[in-house]
Amino acid sequence: MSTSDAAGATVDLCGVSLRRAGTDILRDFTWRIRAGERWVILGPNGAGKTTLVRILSGRLFPSSGTVDVLGRRLGRVDVREEIWGRVALASSALNERFPYGQTVIETVRTGKYGYLATWRESYTSEDEERACALLEQFDITHLADRRFASLSSGERQRTALARAMMTEPEILILDEPTSSLDLGGREYVLSSLDTIAQKTTPILVTHHVEEIPPAFTHVLLIKDGTVFAAGEIGQTLTSEMLSELFAVPLRVHREGGRFFAVAR
Ligand SMILES: Nc1ncnc2c1ncn2[C@@H]1O[C@H](COP(=O)(O)OP(=O)(O)OP(=O)(O)O)[C@@H](O)[C@H]1O
Ligand SMILES: [Mg+2]
Repeated sequence: MSTSDAAGATVDLCGVSLRRAGTDILRDFTWRIRAGERWVILGPNGAGKTTLVRILSGRLFPSSGTVDVLGRRLGRVDVREEIWGRVALASSALNERFPYGQTVIETVRTGKYGYLATWRESYTSEDEERACALLEQFDITHLADRRFASLSSGERQRTALARAMMTEPEILILDEPTSSLDLGGREYVLSSLDTIAQKTTPILVTHHVEEIPPAFTHVLLIKDGTVFAAGEIGQTLTSEMLSELFAVPLRVHREGGRFFAVAR
């Protein structure tokens, strides 16, 4: 790997392993995202997708190997200062962790710091304006003072997206952003994602190839905690690859820029 290649990368993982309870959840994981690439991550339940994106967003540190995110090496920088505001993470799992009594507007504002709960942090009038503009953009202004815990799944996901966009992050990671949404909610999130992808580097974790917006260019397939395949989406997301990844005979086809997979 040449230094100039690494310098142009947005994300660079080299030989990463993560050990917990005597097991390697991730092992010898090497993967690179270059500027302008938009990646989707696919893999069976328990493959290590959420663990990987928690590392990328500076929420978890590897047991070995190196992780460079936006030119910063994890372990050498204060992630709160240098990573959390630049790499946003939205996921349905995270939605379960916001404090019970926290309102929608409070939750969106915490995105400025990447915190889950509002505490002693301060916000400027520009922050307040930005939070209000995001509520409007995601059509949740009417929910501003509602408790996050009282929202429907779709309303929670819109709030989580607004929160993630609070800092205009350079990388936006979405871990199963459409889980438990109805068809309208799913399409709303996917079309928002297509627009958001123009302003940031998006990384999408999903279980459904139908949910990959046309703007995405590359796919990472994960199995048993390591890279199964990685590359340009048209060449990597094939019937053969997906069948082997999920150990089920599948046929993949593409229509109108979207992918579809059915059992053969
Ligand atoms: N703290 C932990 N201690 C022990 N095992 C863990 C820990 N965190 C995660 N794991 C295990 O690591 C594996 C990968 O988990 P992870 O949540 O990353 O998978 P995933 O690919 O996101 O799965 P899913 O598609 O179900 O969301 C799982 O077997 C999980 O049980
Ligand atoms: Mg997961």
